[in-house]
Amino acid sequence: MPRKILVTSALPYANGATHFGHLVEYIQTDIWVRFQKMCGHECWYICADDTHGTPIMLRAEQEGITPEQLIARVHEERLRDFGGFHVAFDNYYTTHSDETKQLAGDIYARLQAAGLIETRSIEQFYDPLKQMFLPDRYIKGECPKCGAKDQYGDNCEVCGAAYTPAEVKNPYSVISGAKPELRPSEHYFFRLSDPRCQDFLRHYTREAGRLQPEAANKMQEWLGQPGENKLSDWDISRDAPYFGFEIPDAPGKYFYVWLDAPIGYMGSFRNFCDQRGLNFDEYWKPDSKTELYHFIGKDILYFHALFWPAELAHAGYRTPTGIFAHGFLTVDGAKMSKSRGTFITADSYLRLGLNPEWLRYYYAAKLNSSMEDIDLNLEDFAARVNSDLVGKYLNIASRCAGFLTKFFDGKLHFDAAQPMRAAAVEQGVLAAKSYEAREYSRAVRDIMAVADRINEAIATAAPWAVAKDENKRAELHDICSRALHGFYVVTILLQPILPVTARRVARELFDMQRDFRWDDLDAMPSRVAPYTHLMQRIEPQQIAALVEANRESLAPTEAAQFPQLPQKDKMQTDALINIDDFAKVDLRIARIANAEHVEGAEKLLKLTLDLGTETRTVFAGIKSAYDPATLVGRLTVMVANLAPRKMKFGLSEGMVLAASGSDSPGIFLLSPDSGAQPGMRVK
Ligand code: 2FM
Ligand code: ZN
Repeated sequence: MPRKILVTSALPYANGATHFGHLVEYIQTDIWVRFQKMCGHECWYICADDTHGTPIMLRAEQEGITPEQLIARVHEERLRDFGGFHVAFDNYYTTHSDETKQLAGDIYARLQAAGLIETRSIEQFYDPLKQMFLPDRYIKGECPKCGAKDQYGDNCEVCGAAYTPAEVKNPYSVISGAKPELRPSEHYFFRLSDPRCQDFLRHYTREAGRLQPEAANKMQEWLGQPGENKLSDWDISRDAPYFGFEIPDAPGKYFYVWLDAPIGYMGSFRNFCDQRGLNFDEYWKPDSKTELYHFIGKDILYFHALFWPAELAHAGYRTPTGIFAHGFLTVDGAKMSKSRGTFITADSYLRLGLNPEWLRYYYAAKLNSSMEDIDLNLEDFAARVNSDLVGKYLNIASRCAGFLTKFFDGKLHFDAAQPMRAAAVEQGVLAAKSYEAREYSRAVRDIMAVADRINEAIATAAPWAVAKDENKRAELHDICSRALHGFYVVTILLQPILPVTARRVARELFDMQRDFRWDDLDAMPSRVAPYTHLMQRIEPQQIAALVEANRESLAPTEAAQFPQLPQKDKMQTDALINIDDFAKVDLRIARIANAEHVEGAEKLLKLTLDLGTETRTVFAGIKSAYDPATLVGRLTVMVANLAPRKMKFGLSEGMVLAASGSDSPGIFLLSPDSGAQPGMRVK
């Protein structure tokens, strides 16, 4: 019976580049969806950009563009990156949509009608200069436990302590540098502590198949025993300025991103249904017979396994059939790191011409249904892909197809096709179980075992020797036909992981007009076309180039801030830019409102720059040339749209311009002519 399945991956925030960590989830989901489609099920893969929230608003401001412009740009980048890795969404939409807005308003109204929304005044840190409430991560200060400077408002990276922003000593706003003040504000809450929610969740989280065993245990810990009330109400509002949807009838209050993000799954699906004439309600009504699965990272399990089902159940919608959480990605055994070049972006990989199917295969070979982290070891990556895909899988066809086209006009001949079909179907059953259960590493192991057996049979039969004897043509025909049937089977089994190679095999080698379906395992190919090369090996230089392309210095010294010109200050006339390129640099007049030494920094001064409408903190490598006291009050020129850099001493939000030369020592800060005002554009 064909199933009707709706599948989602977490909606990525619409800022920052797509990286290898993201790809784990999208590739994992895509493999599952492709497998379901191959089996003939109606399976829709839905996703969108998660476009709302303070970070996106501030990022756009920093770049001097509107949030709408930022999210439109990121949308294009995501489509390019995910498409590049053959992640085939049925719809990739945005949460900044009429559909999501309407659904968020509707769900909110229903929760309100159910008595599950409540308002409360809470005290929150406020940036008096920037005139906005500050999310915890925008507050920094000294750790209340160990005294380390420049620690985030909720935890210390030096001693690991967790605390609230109120406990931080000498707190400052990361945005303006101002001292935050506690101010009261009215917030909206979803009453997760309501007994109706707790009772519902106690049952929901225990039902078979909903959650992985380790996730279900975690939920029981979070929920506590019946009668215990461990869940806190969930703050669903934020105050203006905010980029998001204003709460109906609550001017200046916005739905917090976590309220509209999961609703974005529905918004994207509604948009898809409208395009395709599908029935949205069939998938979302409370007694729906369809299946709904969310693939997510383990960090957002709390939202998906508690808030989201409780929200849906009490707003009159169906709840997820299953929530599949995966672990984090480490590269070479450690957290991805920009300085080591292991924070690898999707775009860099594709631009260097590396084959996306290599990564899909490697991830599949590592992934299972647990929440364990997975490690990408770059050496192992190359070795595994070369040995499995090139050495085992493609080797079958490259060794045998030529004999079939040379001596038998490409025709395959089987004396006893029936047992071969039966064996293929049996291998299909085994692999299908693994795919369905998201045990891809097991699927890959079993499929490669099939490839191993085929290769052993070829080695034993030695067709290259048999081909020399004209009297043994029937034997040669049998050996090679069996081998090519094996190749056909392995290709079908690998198609969810290697969709492009499988498509080429189907169309170019076996002359089919469509992609493989799972039930093609129960059919025999009759002809093969001359073998064309299907995949390169990974070369070590490609891995080295990838790491190099992603290596970034995280703690710039003044060498990075004021790069030395090439020897003899040769002008680089071969790298001309046009006026549009230049216009991308937002140069502004800034007044140095404050300048101070930075404890522990040999070369840096900390500058507070007044841009007229806002202030910025910039760490500049000019200590050797300037006494901070002489700088206060003077005007200079800054790059205002430089992405902020996290430095050892704090966040640097721009760069001041200075001249320096290799022959005459010194650093010379630029100044405008008199009359220039802070904030004026330099062009
Ligand atoms: O954690 C994140 O990246 C969020 N943008 C995930 C949202 S998933 C869903 F709820 F939309
Ligand atoms: Zn600390």
